[in-house]
Parts: sequence; C-alpha cells; structure tokens
Amino acid sequence: MTTLDEREEELVRAGHNLFNVPGPRVLVDLLTDSGTGAMSSEQWAGLQRGDESYAGSASWQRFRDAVRVLFPFDHLIPTHQGRAAEKILFSVIGGPGKTIPNNTHFDTTRANVEFTGAETLDLPIAEAHVPASRHPFKGDMDVDALRRVLAERDVPVVFMTLTNNSGGGQPVSMENLRAVREACGDVPLFVDACRFAENAWFVKLREDGYADASVPDIVREMASLADGMTMSAKKDPLANIGGWLAVNDPDLAEQCRNLLILTEGFPTYGGMAGRDMDAIAQGLREAVDEDYLRYRIRSTEYLGEALDRAGIPVVLPVGGHAVYIDARGFLPHIPPLEYPGQALAVALYRAGGIRGCEIGTVMFGRRPDGSEHPAPMDLVRLAIPRRTYTQSHIDFVIEVCEDVASRAGELRGLRIVEEPPTLRHFTARFEPL
Ligand code: F0G
Repeated sequence: MTTLDEREEELVRAGHNLFNVPGPRVLVDLLTDSGTGAMSSEQWAGLQRGDESYAGSASWQRFRDAVRVLFPFDHLIPTHQGRAAEKILFSVIGGPGKTIPNNTHFDTTRANVEFTGAETLDLPIAEAHVPASRHPFKGDMDVDALRRVLAERDVPVVFMTLTNNSGGGQPVSMENLRAVREACGDVPLFVDACRFAENAWFVKLREDGYADASVPDIVREMASLADGMTMSAKKDPLANIGGWLAVNDPDLAEQCRNLLILTEGFPTYGGMAGRDMDAIAQGLREAVDEDYLRYRIRSTEYLGEALDRAGIPVVLPVGGHAVYIDARGFLPHIPPLEYPGQALAVALYRAGGIRGCEIGTVMFGRRPDGSEHPAPMDLVRLAIPRRTYTQSHIDFVIEVCEDVASRAGELRGLRIVEEPPTLRHFTARFEPL
C-alpha cells in the first residue's frame, strides 16, 4: 500500500509515465492482460514436465499438437512473444512501397511494419470510433475500404486483429472475416489472434447461427479463413511468456525459419524454454473452456457496467479483456494534444494506486514523418489480468473511478518533455500543464 504523498512522489520520479512506476508501488495493476494472468495448477504441473532438449523436445511436440488442434496451419514457428513473430514476418514480407491493412494495428504490429519502411492502414468500420455505439462487432473491418486499398496499393498481406485491442477489445464477426477473406482474393489474410478465445466466445453469444457451436469449432472456422497467424501466448493462452507465427506457404515458412534461427532459436523452441511450451499447451486447452470464458467475459462486463451506471463514458459494448474509458468524453476540457488519456491514467494512479494504460494520442499520435495528430480516440484501458483479481479488487477500482469522476473538471493535461523516435508511450516523460 502507498499513501497519496508517496504516489505523488512516484509520479514525479516516473515522469508521469506509469510504465516507469515499479510494480510494488501499484495496488491494482490493470496496465495489461499480457503475461499477467495466474497459471492453473495443471499449467504449473506442465512446467515441471518441461523437456529442455535442444531439438525436437517432447514439450515442443505437446505444444505443436495443442496449437494444431485449434490452428491447423502447415508450419508452426515458435517465438518468445508476439512481437518477435511480427518482426520476423514483416522483415520478410514488408518493405518500402508496401501497405499492410488491419482492422486496427496494435502498437507493436504498427511499429514492426513501419520499421521495414512499409505503411500501415487501419480500416475499422465507422462504428468502431463511436465509443457509445453498441454495434455487437465493432472489431469488424470496412470491407469496401479494403477493396479500394487492394485495388490501388501493393498489399503483401491483410491482417485482422482478434479481438481488436486498440479499438476497445471489440470482436470481429465470422461474417466479416468471411467477407474480408473474399475481398482478399489471392492476397494472404493473416490473423493476429492474441485474444482468439474471447473473440470466439463473442461470436457464440452474438452472431446468428453460432449459439450451439463449440468454442474450439468457432476458432477452427476462423483459422480456416486465414493463411497464417501471429500470436502472443501471453494473452488468451494463459502463459507468462511465449508466442508463435504460423503459415501455410512453405516458401514463406522457410524464409521465416531462417530468420528465427538467427534471432530467436532453433525451430523447435524458438524463443521459449521447453517448460514454457508445456504451460502454453495446457493454457490453450483451458482458454477455450466455456465456464472459464463465461466467467472471464462476465467479470470484465461487471466493471464496465458499473462505470457506465456511474455516468463514466466507456467504450460499449464492453470488450473482452479490458474496459476502455473514453477519456476524451470524460475530460472534454483537455484537448487531445494535451493527452486526456494520460491525464486520466495518472489521476487514477494518484487517487488509488490503480495502473491503467493510455491508448490514444500518446500511443498513436506521432507519425513516421515526425508530425503529431490526435488519435481517433483517447482511451484509458483498464485491462483485466486473467484469473488474478477478485470482485473486491474490482469494486475498489469502481470506487476510485467514481472519486476521480467527481473531480474531473479539476484535472489538467500534460506535455511531453522527452520522447524516443518510436513507441514513445513506453518511455516518454511528461510534465503537468
Ligand atoms: N498483437 C496484439 C493485438 C497485442 O495486444 C499485443 C500485445 C501484441 C500483438 C504483441 O504481443 O506483447 O507478446 O509481443 N499486447 C500487450 C497489451 C502488450 O498490453 O495489449 P507481445
């Protein structure tokens, strides 16, 4: 526990960037759902079974088989986390003159594409940028916009992020994924499938014709529409580390494997220890368990509904892994270039030691040409680590949000005093205005 004065000191030390605050100084850590979940007893047992053979370990075989049950792509390339898969893939297929469309790129995806000189394009449906719109699949892509891009530009791959993290943890419908597949023609379609199980659960709940389908069947249907995937095992697979790239194209697989050996490791462990692969194999089985998914989605919704009832603007309907507060709506007196999302995230930490994450103009406002523009939305994401916090923790979060809301008019924006050339949100330093 920390006092208000200690947190104030911590904020100054951290340059008002919550990534710089040490974990022990945080009371409820909703910075991310990535690698922060609690592993089950069976996953811990899996760690004990880990086989650390360099080549072709039993852990690799168990991992490969568990992945293939859900994602039967021909070639599986293990990596230490999702961004390593992105780095390898885009190093091979990116480059100047290329454009990579996505419903919305996550920050590391965008940065890895841009690092190769290629351009990123976000093509979400219009409702995705209206926080109060209750469209059931706000993760969908604007298929007409995609067709235009495919006609005009050199597109080596189309990406769909399931669920759409930067757009509010919103799911993609099977109908939209099918339409995107059709629009792609011969252009490969890849899924960034970090939160595939949550996405499948929303398809089951909300899309006509899927109420009686099993979650694994829905996942396999999603995979059948794609030519490959990138994955972070730190999200839905319930592991603390790990990831993979999977592709059908044998030539692409070979080029990616060559890079894998250079940067990650041998193709049967990539960037992971054998024991990590066992934890993921077990986590994948648990991730598609319907009782778990019902609990998971309901607990996120519980927080979102409480904030909505308290008059705090949140992205609706509530997403899978996080509640996103609409900071621009919450703090209309702070202009986007004074970072309302950062101001709100800082205020929640100051008031109650709660750490959320700005997803807005700090994260996405700086363009590769150096100019700065407001992001489409300024959000604060309260991400819920899997199987970690209890309802009492979440009730405390609700009280703190209500307290900050009662003083919203007093909050001020920030200015950036130091920033790196890319992914500035991780290390930028701010000063209050
Ligand atoms: N794609 C999406 C949609 C993600 O949310 C993330 C990570 C990645 C790729 C990269 O995976 O972290 O294993 O390298 N998201 C985390 C988050 C960091 O907080 O949302 P990674």
